[in-house]
Amino acid sequence: MTLTISVIGTGYLGATHAACMAELGYAVVGVDTDPAKIADLSDGRLPFYEPGLPELILAHTSAGALRFTTEVAEAADADVHFLCVGTPQRPDGLGADTSHVRAAVAGLVPHLRRDALIVGKSTVPVGTAHELQDLADSLAPEGVRVEIAWNPEFLREGRSVEDTLRPDRLVFGVASDAAERSLRAVYERVLGAGTPLVVSDLVSAELVKVSANAFLATKISFINAVAELCEATGGDVTAVSEALGHDARIGHAFLKAGLGFGGGCLPKDIRAMMARAGELGVDQALTFLREVDDINMRRRHRVVELATEEVGGSLLGRRVAVLGAAFKPLTDDVRDSPALNVAAQLQLRGAGVRVYDPQAIDNARAVFPTLTYADSAAEALADADLVLLLTEWSEFLELDPEQVGGLVAQRRVIDGRNALDTDGWRRAGWSYRGLGRPRME
Ligand code: UGA
Repeated sequence: MTLTISVIGTGYLGATHAACMAELGYAVVGVDTDPAKIADLSDGRLPFYEPGLPELILAHTSAGALRFTTEVAEAADADVHFLCVGTPQRPDGLGADTSHVRAAVAGLVPHLRRDALIVGKSTVPVGTAHELQDLADSLAPEGVRVEIAWNPEFLREGRSVEDTLRPDRLVFGVASDAAERSLRAVYERVLGAGTPLVVSDLVSAELVKVSANAFLATKISFINAVAELCEATGGDVTAVSEALGHDARIGHAFLKAGLGFGGGCLPKDIRAMMARAGELGVDQALTFLREVDDINMRRRHRVVELATEEVGGSLLGRRVAVLGAAFKPLTDDVRDSPALNVAAQLQLRGAGVRVYDPQAIDNARAVFPTLTYADSAAEALADADLVLLLTEWSEFLELDPEQVGGLVAQRRVIDGRNALDTDGWRRAGWSYRGLGRPRME
């Protein structure tokens, strides 16, 4: 018998999860309170950029395996319900807002007519799953048993389909054997492909997710702290990072020094983890994450400092081309984007900033309407006194330094991601500054 799956919340995570569940062969209904989002998804349109996802959604909506609705009652008959609503940073900055997950459970449970498993995927403060179990118990119709499980999601923006269908690992936080059996059935094909599985209690599963993101953030800030040392001593962080990464215990991943991390997850999650530790009375355990955050934010100021130095001490009236607005390549997401933050700081200091990004301009314009946006890299570069590479889209890495050298007023580049072919740019007569690297003429 084909399992039926509901996915509550069809934002970035939910839309991906719904499409991938359909790809695994299930009948899937995606539910969201936003009618515009549901209309878009039903027509196979995505309100954000994610490679490969629109095609997958269209294939399964056309085949009838996947549908979207605003009516949560239509999800009531599903065998397993996945909770994929957002947990944004609270306006006070202190922790994650779990009101949407609570509202999702409160919206669904009264419609249930038979025993059900609700599986949380959202990133939540530890302890949330138990609270949701209490909430579900209090709202369950007479004779219906609702169980909460937690199955954290580790997908990366820009690679969400691949990460969902072929994850590094699966984690099932469960309170009963029955819940484990249901989750094993849902992920049968993924497990059959040899994906490692960790089965744990609810609390540990919640902790895995925030710990993974905190660890990744720490790794990035660690190498960026080494970059600060390199800047003070004349060392080259790219050499240090490469040598460190060859130690199999350390590894190369997430050891790239540069402008640091941004996006809707890493910055938010480390702050929420610290806040939760404080609430639990163990804030000392995570005070180092404050440093991780600070080191990360310092990189943005450092790029502004370098830009100021490069143009002779004042940015006033200088034309600066900013390549990149998204927080990383392969996404149009500009949440907490280091690139946009730097662009805005340069403008505040009087520079004439022109920003270009292959996907994120519309989102960037909504956040920073006063910046000037170009329609192409060439337009951003025209007559620039200084070029800043701040998001390492392949389009920028493939620029011909000789050819673009003919567009700018001065061949000066700051490579905020240490991603350009240093020798190629220098050979073409560019003065090159990387982060955590000596100046190269
Ligand atoms: C991150 C995690 O990698 C996912 O596993 C997790 O599921 C997701 O958050 C989430 O919580 O939903 P994502 O935010 O898409 O995924 O972005 P990452 O690929 O992790 O990149 C984060 C930031 O780190 C980017 O700004 C990137 O430029 C920066 N970064 C990454 C570095 O500065 N150096 C590196 O070596 C690697």
